[in-house]
Amino acid sequence: MHILITRHLPEAAPSALRAAGHTLTLNPHDRPLTPAELLDLSATADALLLMLTDKIDAQFLEKRPNLKAIANYAVGYNNIDIPACTARKIGVSNTPGVLTNATAEIAWTLLMAAARRAGEGERLVRTKTWAGWEPLQLLGMDVVGRTLGLIGAGRIGARVAKMAAGFDMKLLYHNRKPNPDMEALGAQFVPLNTLLALSDFISLHVPLSDATRHLLGPAQFKLMKPTAILINTARGPVIDEAALVAALQSKTIFAAGLDVYEHEPALHPGLYELDNAILLPHLGSATIETRNKMAHMAADNLLAMLAGKRPPNPVNPELWP
Ligand code: GLV
Ligand code: GLV
Repeated sequence: MHILITRHLPEAAPSALRAAGHTLTLNPHDRPLTPAELLDLSATADALLLMLTDKIDAQFLEKRPNLKAIANYAVGYNNIDIPACTARKIGVSNTPGVLTNATAEIAWTLLMAAARRAGEGERLVRTKTWAGWEPLQLLGMDVVGRTLGLIGAGRIGARVAKMAAGFDMKLLYHNRKPNPDMEALGAQFVPLNTLLALSDFISLHVPLSDATRHLLGPAQFKLMKPTAILINTARGPVIDEAALVAALQSKTIFAAGLDVYEHEPALHPGLYELDNAILLPHLGSATIETRNKMAHMAADNLLAMLAGKRPPNPVNPELWP
């Protein structure tokens, strides 16, 4: 069958698909496809191997009635209209599990960097004007013994919490339902507003949905401690980015560590200039090993779906009862 792969990927994915006898169309550019290019290149595709930067909505699906399967090269799938796919019996898969550690590590990278002002320190050294050690230079926040609040306690949130053990942190979490893994770590399930008021570090691990869009806005920033540090490795639109910029400018909170943005790759005006924001370019799953595992996983899912079988990682499992 015919598969469109929308970005250059680790070789594991195209190799496995070709070896199974499928024909591949590859993105000829080293950039995301425009919506028009995506439509054009998928004209005869039976399946798509898609990035989180590719948007699939009902309108697109209407124009591509031949599509049978979509493998998203990401754990998050807010870029795809899942109910519309399900209605058309198009199977969708994602890449859960294999990027849990890598994403939790990026959350910790941001947490430590924001707490200890590593971005400012690095920039200072690079100016070649650093005059040496100073008693009051770039003083940050302790991490050991403080309170970490996890908003969202799926695989990634729970792994971030587990990694906190070495820092003797008190753990709070808010989730749709209690998570036994979190309880086993001694984490306390609390209402969102309680978490916001009591946490020194707040880390987001919810998927993006109508329920989580702008979960944190002006009212929520007001509840946080002036010493609070907010970490986002989930999806940008979970935070009202304009309100975050205002909160960082006014020191309503101490700092933020961000891997994702509301309108990637654009940042809200003012965010670039803020020294109390650590800014990474959506690197959550970006390790060699992890991206290789994601490539294997996406290919395995496509191969199963194109063979009419339930894939290992279905997003709409109801298609294979
Ligand atoms: C990355 O953001 C992912 O959802 O895999
Ligand atoms: C997915 O949402 C995860 O936490 O792995």
